[in-house]
Amino acid sequence: MESVLTFARLAEEISREAGGMLLVKRPARPEVLATKSSPTDVVTALDRASEELIRARIRAVRPDDAILGEEGGSTGAGRVRWIVDPIDGTVNFLYGLPEWAVSIAVEVDGEVVAGAVNVAPRGEVFTAAKGHGAWLAGERLRCNTGVPLDRALIATGFGYEAGRRRVQAEVLARVLPRVRDIRRGGSAASDLCSLAAGRVDGYYERGPQYWDYAAGGLVATEAGARIGGLRGRPYNPDLTICAAPGLFEELHDLLAPLDPERDA
Ligand code: IPD
Repeated sequence: MESVLTFARLAEEISREAGGMLLVKRPARPEVLATKSSPTDVVTALDRASEELIRARIRAVRPDDAILGEEGGSTGAGRVRWIVDPIDGTVNFLYGLPEWAVSIAVEVDGEVVAGAVNVAPRGEVFTAAKGHGAWLAGERLRCNTGVPLDRALIATGFGYEAGRRRVQAEVLARVLPRVRDIRRGGSAASDLCSLAAGRVDGYYERGPQYWDYAAGGLVATEAGARIGGLRGRPYNPDLTICAAPGLFEELHDLLAPLDPERDA
């Protein structure tokens, strides 16, 4: 079995290639090919092309591994599984905003051990390997520590369905007066890497899927953050909270009574 560092290098290389392809091929106005959970949850031809490229590169070097991708679903079986978001932040990609990323994580026996998040428009590739830290451009990342809730800059995001958004707005209205400010970047993978780099202090969101946060979650935890769900549950699509220990608990205790896992 390859070491976690080898997996991280492979994920990085593939994410660089996919990100480079997307930068070159992105037309001035990408066309929406299909919609998913709502009319604003879009897929472009390049989401699919990026995932096909990533799958082909993984198959070329690791033909027996399983892959879970946002566009192509689940394929294969085995101890090693690649978790792929070919474009996280597709709406930003559509509008030409510089906050979208290619996210690739590697699981061994169900645990994420390596990951890369290529925020291609910014030319930033974040990597992490379990037990070996999180890195950006040769610099080891450390998240901000010792920030109290009322000084914390918190990233979050919103789902695509109206009912869920109503609840998210309600929750946000209770969070906003208690924190420094809120940021809505539009890519969960990039939000978690920003947290690792100290550009925000905390993150919470209901709704992102595993491929949105698998790699970014490892980058954040390898930078010293804690990630989890409500009331001791592991992080999951119902709710993911991430921040340095201390702020994590404060944010959790603010969110828990607001029942943020509702959809109506
Ligand atoms: C979305 C982004 C966004 C988050 C949404 C996700 P997509 O992923 O990560 O930041 O708020 O919940 O669905 O649809 O662009 O891959």
